[in-house]
Amino acid sequence: MKRTVLAALAALIIGGVAQADTIKIGVIGPFSGPFALQGKNFKAGIDAYMVLNGSNVGDDDIEIIYRDVPQPDPAQSKALAQELVVKEGVQYLAGFYFTPDAMAVTPLLEQANVPLVIMNAATSAIVTKSPLAVRTSFTLWQTSTPIAKVAKDAGVSKVISVVSDYGPGVDAENAFKKGFEAVGGEVVEAIRMPLATNDFSPIMQRVKDSGAEGLFAFLPSGPTTLGFVKAFNENGLKDAGIKFFAPGDLTQESDLPALGEAALGIQTTFHYAVSHDSPENKAFVEAAGKAIGNPAELSFPSVGAYDGMHVIYKMIAATGGEQDAQKAVDAVKGLSWTSPRGPVSIDPESRHITQNIYLREVAKAEDGSYYNKEIATFEKQGDPGLAALK
Ligand code: PHB
Repeated sequence: MKRTVLAALAALIIGGVAQADTIKIGVIGPFSGPFALQGKNFKAGIDAYMVLNGSNVGDDDIEIIYRDVPQPDPAQSKALAQELVVKEGVQYLAGFYFTPDAMAVTPLLEQANVPLVIMNAATSAIVTKSPLAVRTSFTLWQTSTPIAKVAKDAGVSKVISVVSDYGPGVDAENAFKKGFEAVGGEVVEAIRMPLATNDFSPIMQRVKDSGAEGLFAFLPSGPTTLGFVKAFNENGLKDAGIKFFAPGDLTQESDLPALGEAALGIQTTFHYAVSHDSPENKAFVEAAGKAIGNPAELSFPSVGAYDGMHVIYKMIAATGGEQDAQKAVDAVKGLSWTSPRGPVSIDPESRHITQNIYLREVAKAEDGSYYNKEIATFEKQGDPGLAALK
């Protein structure tokens, strides 16, 4: 009798091990409203990863649960993250386009035993708020430091800085100023505009009046960046010979058809161009292009999401599907791989991604379409913003 019970128990346990579990990943991003295209890119990157790498890790099936936060809204982001953890039982939180939304969930992670994989939000400090936060996107310090030298090399010594007044904007302003002063340049004026600003004519007037030879700008990619670049042209700044320098958020590929000639020649520095020439990117663009439907809508959040999935799959493999957030995060410290953007690794100390930053220029292809043409590479860039925080 005893033996039968034991045998039955053993069969149960062995059966339990072999049985497939479903591991849920909660993804928060803007899936409706003005920034919906950015969230659509998260989904395209995730779908592409699962098409190319399967929708299971070992015996475990992977299920993605999406939640919509259309505009920066930390309270809504936190409430949805709580709901995903408590009601849906997600083992991973991921996505997060806007910094305030990512910041708001960092206090939940340790108690929930859930890693956070940031697929976009780009303020340096986020990863310092929890040992369970890992980032596969970029930071504004990482992208805006190299453009300062580019501006100086282009013969520009006086720049006016214009940024959105929140985390990544402040980081961008500080990074550019530090980099520009280091090569002998001067930031003659630094303007921080409310995030919701959409009439840029008064700002453009201030740029003209400042006497600066160049403009450095950051706004979060979306309808506002499109409006800002248009306003730069329509207010005659380009014609006045003022040179425009920015991180690549200002010329995301999905905006280029609408910008047309207005964007031509703008130089930006960024971690990813859809045109990046590599076999990995070719495979990615094909899969993500299919996933999004219209390949002209592809932009950088897709690659942050694709690499975020790579990191989560490694975490699931390392934990055998068990919920152990610290073990999962430890498993990706130092992880390196070839992303569609080029060689990358997760810095073991900061848990932020080390990557190449490319200088690009908006160019016109033979078929008349516009693209970000990579013209130089700043190799293996860490995040200078983390040192600046200390
Ligand atoms: C952010 O809120 O961290 C953010 C959003 C969009 C960008 C860059 C940074 O293009």
